[in-house]
Amino acid sequence: MAKRAKKRKSAARRTSRPQKRLSDLFHEALKDIYFTENKIIKTLPKMAKAAQSKELAAAFNKHLRETQGQVKRLDRVFRIIGQPARGKTCEAINGIADEGAEIMKEFRGMPALDAGLVAAAQAVEHYEISRYGTLRTWAEQLGLSDAAELLQETLNEEEATDQALTELATSVANLEAEKGEEEEEYA
Ligand SMILES: [Fe+2]
Ligand SMILES: [Fe+2]
Repeated sequence: MAKRAKKRKSAARRTSRPQKRLSDLFHEALKDIYFTENKIIKTLPKMAKAAQSKELAAAFNKHLRETQGQVKRLDRVFRIIGQPARGKTCEAINGIADEGAEIMKEFRGMPALDAGLVAAAQAVEHYEISRYGTLRTWAEQLGLSDAAELLQETLNEEEATDQALTELATSVANLEAEKGEEEEEYA
């Protein structure tokens, strides 16, 4: 009996709280990715400057221009849901960016720098791919087909960037070999 009363009480407590729905989750995730994209706009020029390979620097600059367009797409998604375009600090991207900054510092002028930059950039792309995939699906579920289309366009760009980075990883490794580095071996 006492157990049942306790159960009822906790159910009541649950219902007294404002109900958070998928639309709230969508809005939260949108603020998160808005912060992420704006953070990347600040980070990519530093990575382009640090890159030793011209192709890698060009890839970072190309993605910087794409990222600026992605922020504009997000502005449109915020308009669709009638909310102000505002970011919310995302510790996940801050952590990924910190790792990238550490590589730039620790490997400056080193043969392995570009390989480290490619890896750092791919960690960013994979995070974005995960977020945009989720946001696109939620937009579909919420019946926001225009928003879903905009999010899909960005998702395509992130996936293409990831693919380009995978290809660059090979040429960057070749560049390191051309520098006449001795064959590396692990003891
Ligand atoms: Fe992006
Ligand atoms: Fe990206």
